[in-house]
Amino acid sequence: MTAIERARTVAVVGTGTMGQGIAQVALLAGHPVLLFDADAARTSAADASVRSRIERLVEKGRLERAEADAALLRLRAARDLRDLSEAALVVEAIVEQLPVKQELFVSLEALVAEDCLLATNTSSLSVTAIAGALKHPGRFVGMHFFNPAPLLPLVEVVSGFATDDAAATRAYDTALAWGKTPVRCADTPGFLVNRIARPFYAEAFAVYEEQAADPATIDAVLRESGGFRMGPFELTDLIGQDVNEAVSRSVWEAFHQSPKFVPSLPQRRLVESGRLGRKSGRGWFPYGEGTAGPEP
Ligand code: NAI
Repeated sequence: MTAIERARTVAVVGTGTMGQGIAQVALLAGHPVLLFDADAARTSAADASVRSRIERLVEKGRLERAEADAALLRLRAARDLRDLSEAALVVEAIVEQLPVKQELFVSLEALVAEDCLLATNTSSLSVTAIAGALKHPGRFVGMHFFNPAPLLPLVEVVSGFATDDAAATRAYDTALAWGKTPVRCADTPGFLVNRIARPFYAEAFAVYEEQAADPATIDAVLRESGGFRMGPFELTDLIGQDVNEAVSRSVWEAFHQSPKFVPSLPQRRLVESGRLGRKSGRGWFPYGEGTAGPEP
């Protein structure tokens, strides 16, 4: 690895739905990318998945062969957190749990260079709280991508209480350079989109609970006459019911359990029964061959 490459290396920690998408974005923007997941099998699976997504882009004529080959050479799977010490930017996309994220960043801070930008893709946890245990929280920022990260342009760049303006500017400029549409915002529960979207999901689930209409009908109504690209049921199946519910809980807690943001019981049942959406093969709808629901 040359010094110039080192200065541009992006490490993605947590290689599930979002980590893979973010890695693809950074890779195609020209960065060397390191993937790391606490579960080594997931790191390997993500490495294979990002590679196959890039191959698919070539097959579809959306990416030149030479560009894809160069990108594939820049992708590496890290086996140990210590392998991330060379990163210029770390984007974290691990489980949405405050103590787990805090602990990860404390470990990362001890490894990376002083000028390494540390970013969290949290949907709803406080950026200020995640940075709470850091010695240098000034370089810590929220970079909240939307799912699927390679397709959706918005990135919320979230400044916690201790975030330096220079760090937020760096995150903003990076998102711009990656072809995204960044928007800066403060560290308020759910930031902008996830806060404003909460009542959208909650009302849809309430309508379902009242047996006023079924999920497919509600989705269709919103898609066909409401101007929404996806209805709330298919969208939460795409996001992951567990992830979406964690966001609802987090926003509800942050607003002192306000009834305005109360999480949905039917969604709790889905999570408890492992019906997490597309990633588990079933959520509100079934997925895969031979099912009546939307195909993955
Ligand atoms: P996911 O469940 O698909 O992936 C999370 C990954 O993190 C798993 O592979 C898990 O093994 C790994 N992991 C857990 N603890 C770890 C640790 N301590 N160190 C390293 N790896 C660890 O989750 P997903 O959906 O990708 O979400 C990740 C983050 O992105 C969450 O904070 C979530 O709120 C946020 N987010 C999710 C969106 C979505 O639509 N799914 C949209 C935007 C943000």
